[in-house]
Amino acid sequence: MLIQTLCSLLAVNSAWAQSSTLAAYIASQSPLAKAGIVIASPSNVNPDYLYTWTRDSAVVFQTIIDQYTLGLDTTTRGEIDNYVASQVIIQQVSNPSGTITTGGLGEPKFNIDETAFTGAWGRPQRDGPALRSNALITWANYLLKENNATYVTNTLWPIIQNDLNYVSQNWNQSTFDLWEEVDSSSFFTTAIQHRSLRQGVTLANAIGKTSVVSSWTTQAENVLCFLQSFWNTAGYITANTGGGRSGKDANTVLASIHTFDAAAGCDALTFQPCSDVALSNLLTYVNSFRSVYSLNSGIANNQAVATGRYPEDSYQGGNPWYLTTLAVAEQLYDSLIVWKAQGSLQVTSRSLPFFQLFDSSVTAGTYASTTSTFTTLTTGVQNYADGFVEVVAKHTPSDGQLSEQYSKTDGSQLSAVDLTWSYAATLTAFDARAGVVPASWGAAGLTTTCNAPSGGGGGGGGGSGTVAVTFNVFATTVFGQNIYICGSVDALQNWDPNTALLLSSAGYPTWSITVNLPASTSIQYKYLNIEGSTIIWESDPNMEITTPASGTWIENDTWR
Ligand SMILES: *[C@@H]1O[C@H](CO)[C@@H](O)[C@H](O)[C@H]1NC(C)=O
Ligand SMILES: *[C@@H]1O[C@H](CO)[C@@H](O)[C@H](O)[C@H]1NC(C)=O
Ligand SMILES: *[C@@H]1O[C@H](CO)[C@@H](O)[C@H](O)[C@H]1NC(C)=O
Repeated sequence: MLIQTLCSLLAVNSAWAQSSTLAAYIASQSPLAKAGIVIASPSNVNPDYLYTWTRDSAVVFQTIIDQYTLGLDTTTRGEIDNYVASQVIIQQVSNPSGTITTGGLGEPKFNIDETAFTGAWGRPQRDGPALRSNALITWANYLLKENNATYVTNTLWPIIQNDLNYVSQNWNQSTFDLWEEVDSSSFFTTAIQHRSLRQGVTLANAIGKTSVVSSWTTQAENVLCFLQSFWNTAGYITANTGGGRSGKDANTVLASIHTFDAAAGCDALTFQPCSDVALSNLLTYVNSFRSVYSLNSGIANNQAVATGRYPEDSYQGGNPWYLTTLAVAEQLYDSLIVWKAQGSLQVTSRSLPFFQLFDSSVTAGTYASTTSTFTTLTTGVQNYADGFVEVVAKHTPSDGQLSEQYSKTDGSQLSAVDLTWSYAATLTAFDARAGVVPASWGAAGLTTTCNAPSGGGGGGGGGSGTVAVTFNVFATTVFGQNIYICGSVDALQNWDPNTALLLSSAGYPTWSITVNLPASTSIQYKYLNIEGSTIIWESDPNMEITTPASGTWIENDTWR
């Protein structure tokens, strides 16, 4: 039923348009959606969501592609093909963020007839290309198993490569968050970007596109390092580096479920759903809504409540959202999948307050599935998770329609009707509850030398032996030339020009890159201008920098 609803919302020029008077009205009022285009909501006034967002579309198609590739619903191949075809076009549409080579991939939304939206908007939003490549890589990996490498290489790879070059070059630039309000760095965006680069490297190796591997791997490592900095000692993940709010935000819960990789267990480094950091964060996020919605009043602390985007929200009245309440349930279902698979569950000092919801006398330790504590805790988590779905069910009208928000006072539907993402969120939460495990993306076994929230449920790293160094170099180039850097340490590829690191041209003529380098170390380096097989080194002598003992450093150079 849900997948049908989703598909019927994909394009108003499908059968739905002929059968629905609302769609007929929309068709008479606005341009028709092209095949494969996901409309965010048919609502075209207060709020006007009759657009296609790269983010929402990718989230919806990640769901449809997961369903297809896991054999849960194989009726949607035509829709997936249409989505791919539509994104080939959308990527090339020149728009207010730029063209495909000058930042246009960061454009958040387009008209549903695949033309640019030229009004004022919070742009760029750099999660879109990462989410799209994640969905398409999931599809590509499945098609490789179907022996369809031709389609992967010829059709999917060019789209994926465009998106991941964008991610690789721009992850360290500020972005509007997924709610399109705060322009800073955003945990959701960073987490999704990290996943996309890791998956991209694996796919590139699988199909022999190895020229991107070195730079994408290096940037994935830098992104993973940066990701750690969102954790704060108050026991939750600060959603955005800007914004002037508490930072408690569904952004972080959504990041956890959209980067779930069961193979990584409860890894804290990648903030897996069952990691102690993600559970502590979930508790803080959920509790932040107990007093702001009267709908939640009188509900005990260990019971589910309605949750929204962030407690300070005032958009359309600042109410709970279906997709955020469902995300809490999904993170908990994902956790149960892992605990059951690994046959144990770990309580750390960080996750203790979360687990105490279900057993006030529990202490830190590892509990095997044969223990009564494991049974008590997992039963408690299951009931708590089901409670969030019950909140959504209670406030879903009998026709099953899901809008964007439901009232914080009486639970009635508010804001955009038929929000496509609300349906996708329902499907993925139900799947997780049924134990469905999405394909792995390579989160297992990662390490970092950066400051990580160590000491918890797994994850490598620890230590503070590195500092983030940003290299800015003023260098004029001609079309086709790019600026790279290499130098005397591993992180600068040990002087190997073939694996030198590509700098971002986002601030042209200043090229830029941030690299984690050993602290308090004297390091030599040079920039290179590379076009195809032509490598031009900077003239001698080598540049030199002594990195600080801690903190960050910005080096400003001019090509010579
Ligand atoms: C490969 O997949 C594409 C996309 O679904 C499809 O159009 C094509 O027929 C497939 N090719 C083969 C050989 O299966
Ligand atoms: C860029 O990366 C550095 C090092 O991780 C970090 O300190 C800085 O906040 C990042 N800036 C943005 C805008 O992502
Ligand atoms: C480089 O420029 C930035 C901003 O213009 C400045 O903050 C930084 O201190 C400069 N770095 C050095 C080493 O002078």
